Amino acid sequence: MSRVIVCGSLNMDVVVQSARRPAAGETLLGAEVAFLPGGKGLNQAVASARLGAPTSLIGAVGDDSFGKALRSFLADNNVDTLGLGVVAGQASGLALIQVAEGDNAITVASGANHHFSAAMVHATPQRDEVWMAQFETPLAATDATMRQARQAQARTVLNLAPFLAPPPELLQSIDIAVLNEIELSQAVGVALDSASAESAVIEACQMLRAQGPRAVVATLGPRGVVVVTSDGAVQIPGYRVPVVDTTGAGDCFVGALAARLADGATPFEAARYGNAAAACSVQRLGAAPSMPTAEEVAARLASA
Ligand code: RIB
Ligand code: NA
Repeated sequence: MSRVIVCGSLNMDVVVQSARRPAAGETLLGAEVAFLPGGKGLNQAVASARLGAPTSLIGAVGDDSFGKALRSFLADNNVDTLGLGVVAGQASGLALIQVAEGDNAITVASGANHHFSAAMVHATPQRDEVWMAQFETPLAATDATMRQARQAQARTVLNLAPFLAPPPELLQSIDIAVLNEIELSQAVGVALDSASAESAVIEACQMLRAQGPRAVVATLGPRGVVVVTSDGAVQIPGYRVPVVDTTGAGDCFVGALAARLADGATPFEAARYGNAAAACSVQRLGAAPSMPTAEEVAARLASA
């Protein structure tokens, strides 16, 4: 199996659940606080490692206790942290997360993530490795790293979250672009939401694919995923499961997809697997702690 290298963010997620979301200006008493490892980069790396791929995370933490906790969580989950830098004088990334009615609202204080740069990437990409990134660390670092990975004939996966307009050269160095319907609508300038017809989502994926990525995968929450490759478009239906917390479900999808790609799966097979993995993750609280094992995903796939 090839190695998965995730370049991206790490946050301590400070999570409070409440019966409903507070209105502006309102004070609401919630449940007890949970400090749970998160950040899109960390979440994706943990998903990949739990599903059996040798995985490294390249990123930055601050010189604080959260940074130490995030590092040891990664080690406990078999994620290699040799590429994790410490930024002196900066706090580790922190996300304030309100969970209510199975949905979440997140505010991120980037801290050390914001100081991550291409100069901190010491690993040299190797052919067939899977390199992936998101947009929670500075764009210049993502751009440089993914382009280098493509030149080395590694496979590249870009999760365009949280959305920002990617430079054309970055899109041209991506094998698989993964994004949800809101990010897709921002990427191609077409109005899409959770009620958009499948044909509209497919058309938007094709528009993005024309800008460079070899495959575009749209994650549609409970509606599953759409995969558009040179072979055409396929919709993979979602699973009906009881939802506790959707935080990190997209990251679970991306990490699981990368793990399968590293094992030689096609983009379609990898997306089918990611879809089942994400359905497992939404049934537990938290982002990284809710990432499933290979046994859980296999059971979910068998249940369909
Ligand atoms: O994608 C989910 C993640 O977004 C959370 O873990 C939080 O840290 C934010 O980065
Ligand atoms: Na979860």
